[in-house]
Amino acid sequence: MKKLWAGRFLEASSELLERFNASLPFDKALYFEDIKGSKAHAKMLAKQEIITAKECEEILAGLEKVLGEIEQGEFVFKIADEDIHMAIEARLTELVGASGKKLHTARSRNDQVAVDFRMFVLRKNEEIRAQILELMETILEIASKHTATLMPGMTHLQHAQPVSFGFHMNAYACMFKRDVERLEDSHKRHNYCPLGSAALAGTPYPTDREFLAKELGFLAPTLNAMDSVSDRDFALDLLYDIAMVMMHISRLAEEMVLWSSYEFKFITLSDAYSTGSSIMPQKKNPDVPELLRGKSGRVYGNLLSLLTVMKGLPLAYNKDTQEDKEGVMDSVETAQISLAILKEALKSATINAKAMEEACKRGHLTATDLADFLVRSCEVPFREAHHITGQVVAYAESKGKDISELSEAEILGIDSRIKAGVKEVLSLKNSMNARNSLGGTSSAQTKAQIKTLHAWLKKRLK
Ligand code: ARG
Repeated sequence: MKKLWAGRFLEASSELLERFNASLPFDKALYFEDIKGSKAHAKMLAKQEIITAKECEEILAGLEKVLGEIEQGEFVFKIADEDIHMAIEARLTELVGASGKKLHTARSRNDQVAVDFRMFVLRKNEEIRAQILELMETILEIASKHTATLMPGMTHLQHAQPVSFGFHMNAYACMFKRDVERLEDSHKRHNYCPLGSAALAGTPYPTDREFLAKELGFLAPTLNAMDSVSDRDFALDLLYDIAMVMMHISRLAEEMVLWSSYEFKFITLSDAYSTGSSIMPQKKNPDVPELLRGKSGRVYGNLLSLLTVMKGLPLAYNKDTQEDKEGVMDSVETAQISLAILKEALKSATINAKAMEEACKRGHLTATDLADFLVRSCEVPFREAHHITGQVVAYAESKGKDISELSEAEILGIDSRIKAGVKEVLSLKNSMNARNSLGGTSSAQTKAQIKTLHAWLKKRLK
């Protein structure tokens, strides 16, 4: 079979070249965008009287048929066609004959792949955003139920101060909110149509790029043809945006691994989202959060790969760019399944409020509150307050208790400067609610954060 570009070639391609050169095995995922782009191009050619209305109709009907064949699984993908663009054009010409051969007028595969891949990336950007919004809804649902659930807030993975579990979950909602905003920014930045740039320099035909942009749902055409066919920033932005999402997912996943361990027992993962051990019958393993944590590796790799591919390329199109697709498709797939399973794993997990509260009784979490009380209510300078608090901690340790468990009488006996009412201050709940500064962990502030996040979500969910 003669290739579409083989006019000047005397010998057939080697089988090895075909396997090396072809992108069809992976760029067939662009079939939908390729057909959409070709339909718009055909309409533009007819509108500009570059082809006739009849030819356009034949092309459109043929493309519709090709689309059906692909979606029904009837389309025969032949490696010799090299890529999805030529595979579809070849089939179209088989189906409709002469008019099919006119579709590629005033177009090159360079602007064709640029528009196809950009539309694919923008579509995936939207899908991923929608999934993050759903995940945020789940997180906020959990947070709403736990605005008063005590857990040890940590720094250095050491008990620091009591916080509410809802407050802790809100922190993740804030990260995912930024991820959505980052994707929105990328979408806006790249929502311009490269089709009509042709090979690198534009085209002598009287085309209408404004029409193409509008027809394909872009804001406007891109500005410079040379940039348009060589630019892959849109793909890199998506790769970076996904790397950030996966980094956030990995941090939450790490906490889920810790929380579901015997040492913490803060959550219990549902059986549906846990796995067993092949040798230890008693085990229930957090494979889902572990894999979520591990998946960040490949998406960081995909970002770095494409940055490296692009860094030394002279203008304009180079075949190196064909290496842009697999990494993006892998990152997209990874992000989409990760977002879906994280949402389900969270939804189905049991939150063990009792265990979280018990954990708050280890580590003297309210020591700062005691020092603050001595300064504010007992007129003790901070350095001395720090010292007295240390003595109270030492006393509690000697009794095998947490300072929040000492009685008022016990505390008053430690230093004469400590005033009555101190017990109140040492309570875990009071300590948490005392942190009522804007953005703090008190139940009131936690609820206010949820309200703000909900309002933000509402603007985006239809
Ligand atoms: N399969 C190619 C790619 O993905 C399409 C563009 C080919 N253009 C060319 N001049 N060889 O980049």
